[in-house]
Amino acid sequence: MNLQKCAVIGTGFVGATAAYTLATSGLFSELILLDVNRAKAEGEAADISHGVSFAQPCAVHAGDYQDLKDCGLVILAAGANQKPGETRIDLLHRNEVILKSILDAVLAVAPDCILLVVSNPVDLLTYLAQKLSGLPACRVIGTGTVLDTARLKYLVGQYLQVDSRNVHAFIIGEHGDSELAVWSSANVSGMDLPDYCRIAGKEFSQSVLDDIYQNVRDAAYHIIEGKGATYYGIGMAVLRIARAIVRGERSVLPVSSVIQGRYGVDEICLGLPSVLGKNGIETVLDLPLSYEERKRLESSAAKLRTLLDQMKI
Ligand code: 2OP
Repeated sequence: MNLQKCAVIGTGFVGATAAYTLATSGLFSELILLDVNRAKAEGEAADISHGVSFAQPCAVHAGDYQDLKDCGLVILAAGANQKPGETRIDLLHRNEVILKSILDAVLAVAPDCILLVVSNPVDLLTYLAQKLSGLPACRVIGTGTVLDTARLKYLVGQYLQVDSRNVHAFIIGEHGDSELAVWSSANVSGMDLPDYCRIAGKEFSQSVLDDIYQNVRDAAYHIIEGKGATYYGIGMAVLRIARAIVRGERSVLPVSSVIQGRYGVDEICLGLPSVLGKNGIETVLDLPLSYEERKRLESSAAKLRTLLDQMKI
């Protein structure tokens, strides 16, 4: 299994942007692009390849499943994306069919790979990918709430006028409308939010927190209304996750994976802080939650459980 070899399956807005971001990162020596529309994959590969000499050496090319032999990381970005007014859940039936059509072909040539699911609804598709593939849960990862958490850090940083990299806070749960912000442990370089707001001369109130949370939760809807899709943020989230895996960073990121007996939930995929390394997820952390946060996480899990039961996996 070669972690310097990566494949992106699906070269739509998200897959192509992720491919571009990964190709310029220096993480991979080979990047293979697959799409049912071969001409699209070839066009994206050529366009990215022409810029590689400005970045880092990386052989970017369109390919077929047999090219995925010993591929270390396979990114599943194929499927429909939300149209204005659609939720991520609305994409489930279309993208479930597409995922099923891809998995067997990938595993036939790259059975030791790490799967990174990006397509939405990502938590349900990650669960489906793990069950259908039979791969260990640690090697079937969804982008989870990594992007949502980045949005939260950005918006808190904007509000407090501080570098978002110094904002430590998580969005957890469904990558979707039932996600929740873990305000109880949020901090700015170890200083809790009420104290930091005081020194920043900023109001700290539930309504401020609620406004920030709602802007995070609804961010994709607003972007999609404006430009038709989101892809830069999720593309950078894919790079962040890939870097943690390929470099064996053991970074903590709220990716989605099949949770067994954690946070009072079982057999479900949720975005939860997880240590990521060369073998995928090394451990899912037990983040301290307030009573209300735990109830909201259970509610998020219950929503996904109901949908999974309807999928009859
Ligand atoms: C996003 O949150 C649409 O899931 C995608 O940007």
